[in-house]
Amino acid sequence: MSLILGIESSCDETAAALVTSDRRVLAHRLAGQEAAHRPFGGVVPEIAARAHVEILPRLVEEVLAEADIALDSVDAIAATAGPGLIGGVMVGLVTAKGLALATGKPLIALNHLEAHALSPMLSDPDLDFPYLLLLVSGGHCQLLRVEGLGRYRRLATTIDDAAGEAFDKTAKLLGLGYPGGPAVEAAAEAGDPRAVPLPRPLVGSDEPHFSFAGLKSAVLRARESGLYRGEDLAASFQQAVVDCLVDRTARALDRSPGVNALVVAGGVAANTPIRSALTGLATAADLPFVAPPLWLCTDNAAMIAWAGALRFEAGLIDGLEAPARARWPLDPAAEPARGAGVKA
Ligand code: KG4
Ligand code: ZN
Repeated sequence: MSLILGIESSCDETAAALVTSDRRVLAHRLAGQEAAHRPFGGVVPEIAARAHVEILPRLVEEVLAEADIALDSVDAIAATAGPGLIGGVMVGLVTAKGLALATGKPLIALNHLEAHALSPMLSDPDLDFPYLLLLVSGGHCQLLRVEGLGRYRRLATTIDDAAGEAFDKTAKLLGLGYPGGPAVEAAAEAGDPRAVPLPRPLVGSDEPHFSFAGLKSAVLRARESGLYRGEDLAASFQQAVVDCLVDRTARALDRSPGVNALVVAGGVAANTPIRSALTGLATAADLPFVAPPLWLCTDNAAMIAWAGALRFEAGLIDGLEAPARARWPLDPAAEPARGAGVKA
């Protein structure tokens, strides 16, 4: 059994956690920065990096105190080394390096996407490789075949916006505030999902890729027409996203025979209509549907410590020269999606 300290700082959540290789979360702490970014309607990288500098050391102290563990007793220190906002990634990684240097413990420089991909195994001991993972967050929208530790095949990605980004931008243009996902979901409850005709980009196309930029522009045009209520726009937008995610995931399932489960992770997995639609898809495909609890779906440090524990047990540790990477594809062999922009 090993004990890992995990650190997360790649976007706007500062987090620390202590997790064992036998799936015990001894302590986890998370400090969001929503209030600092809300006036700007999105995450400001410079503000995020400064906040991590101020908050992270206290969170590390708090998890050690809560679990009553001395830093010397951990077996390794794991931190997100990318992909993400580079200033924030550097704060977490350098903090982990400092702790590793001071204690002589090994460093594990993790790919944040790998941590998301392995997080369902922390909450679900029965989940076994291979599984199909739909990773849907503010920064990522990917379908991954998770084949084993360090073995991830990317079947699809977004050619423009991530699904969470589409929720956030749509919320902004509907005047619903930030973060957009929960605001759109709440507004949609009072709306009619069939009221506004909106496109379903890429639905039915052969490759299981995603596209959301056109959908967002269509919501903007519909709003400017003055014909629709905000609630109906929110509900119709959300329904379009549900339809896109389900169609694309179904296509990926067709292309990925032999998986043991359909798994969803990332902040957008908090959305109830999206969860129920994916549950229906899994049932139709005769597969178990696995979604980690919400706190583990969104950015957190327990998933970093857990992925760190799996890597540590496999002897996969990193040197103190490990780089911070703004971009770091989980499957370097994956072709860029046609029409893809600059996103990781
Ligand atoms: O995984 P996450 O916490 O951070 C990263 O982006 O890595 O995901 C945050 C994203 C945001 O875009 C947020 O709007 C979206 O997840 N989100 C939701 C919901 N809750 C959060 N999207 C749709 N419905 C929700 N209930
Ligand atoms: Zn994330």
